[in-house]
Amino acid sequence: MEKIISLAKRRGFIYPGSEIYGGLAGTWDYGPLGAEMMHNIKEAWWKKFVSSHEDMYGIASSIIAPEQVWTASGHLENFTDPLEGKKFNTMFKSKVGALKGETADVYLRPELAQGMFVNFKNIVDSFHPRIPFGIAQIGRCFRNEISPRDFIFRVREFDLMEFEYFVREIDWEKYFEYWRKEMWNWIEEAGIDKDKVHELEVAPEDRAHYSKRTIDFEYDFSFGKKELYGLAYRTDHDLKNHKLDYYDEETKERFIPHVVEPTFGVGRTLLAILDSAYNEDELGEEKRVFLKLKPHIAPVKVAVFPLLKNKPELVKKAREVYEEIKRGIKQIVFDDNGNIGKRYRRQDEIGTPFCVTIDFDTLNDGTVTLRDRDTGEQERVKIANLTAALKDAILR
Ligand code: GAP
Repeated sequence: MEKIISLAKRRGFIYPGSEIYGGLAGTWDYGPLGAEMMHNIKEAWWKKFVSSHEDMYGIASSIIAPEQVWTASGHLENFTDPLEGKKFNTMFKSKVGALKGETADVYLRPELAQGMFVNFKNIVDSFHPRIPFGIAQIGRCFRNEISPRDFIFRVREFDLMEFEYFVREIDWEKYFEYWRKEMWNWIEEAGIDKDKVHELEVAPEDRAHYSKRTIDFEYDFSFGKKELYGLAYRTDHDLKNHKLDYYDEETKERFIPHVVEPTFGVGRTLLAILDSAYNEDELGEEKRVFLKLKPHIAPVKVAVFPLLKNKPELVKKAREVYEEIKRGIKQIVFDDNGNIGKRYRRQDEIGTPFCVTIDFDTLNDGTVTLRDRDTGEQERVKIANLTAALKDAILR
């Protein structure tokens, strides 16, 4: 973990929050590579759980909500951690409005779920979905954690990816199992080492106030086996407390749907991916560090180099190739610093799956060398086929 934290800072993935003022515990800032990687994680999640499902409705709800929401949801009473024999509510409280007598207490959301519940009726009225269906979102949540720790593992603001899947009570176990499998598939697709993930059946006394069954997906971090994701059966707790129900037009029944809820922390996903991808080996008798990131997650997909920096004809051609690839693949860099070996090492360290080098042969025959990060193997590819070949390899 120490190595990952130092790499993350040095190479521009993650910096301590407000660092020049001594830092603010529990906050971290994502640099250019971290931000791209985070974007890739969210995009892959949205594609898998939202856009590929006809019955999933993606929303983006407000971060601040009035006290009534948190009273109904039970968070005002129950979203607490023990502190010096008392219950400490970990929601961040604030006020909206300026004038005396016209201000109101609000809370920053500690989970996304309430945004889905308070919009349940809106979605039903606008789209008339039939049960079962889901409402999903990705967004920032805030928790005044008593002791933030372990790098980005426990922080005070973080992004979640979450959905509420609304079912008939009788079907909850079926869908619980369905989404449990899909969570395992996601873990594999994201490039998280499956052998380091374990399910934990959460004991009743440890479950959140709204849950009748919870499975935690735990990951073997170097600082311990810790929660990565959660899957909860929230019953009809939330809709009932918000006084919402559902009318089935076909069967003419009115009832309160039950909810199965998979939740994924973005930061914890990123950390588990970095941990799974971190590798040290020897290539060409030289030690190297490389991140074996899946291409769709890697913050940079392709790096383009002219073999020599001081040969204008190589630099010009390399720029052309760079522009050409960039039209189809946005996460790409141009690098002409240092020698070629150093450039490869730099790209390996940030997990760039492909490096393209323009050399003197390129000027004669229109081919470039394409190098594979994991094996270090190189092949010559025609520029005309390059973007298509790269796109293919990234999608795979
Ligand atoms: N709506 C359900 C819910 O919020 P949770 O178990 O409280 O469930 C869900 O949180 C996920 O959010 C966790 O599995 C974890 O990935 C992430 N998470 C929770 N607290 C966090 C924190 N302080 N820092 C970073 N991620 C956190």
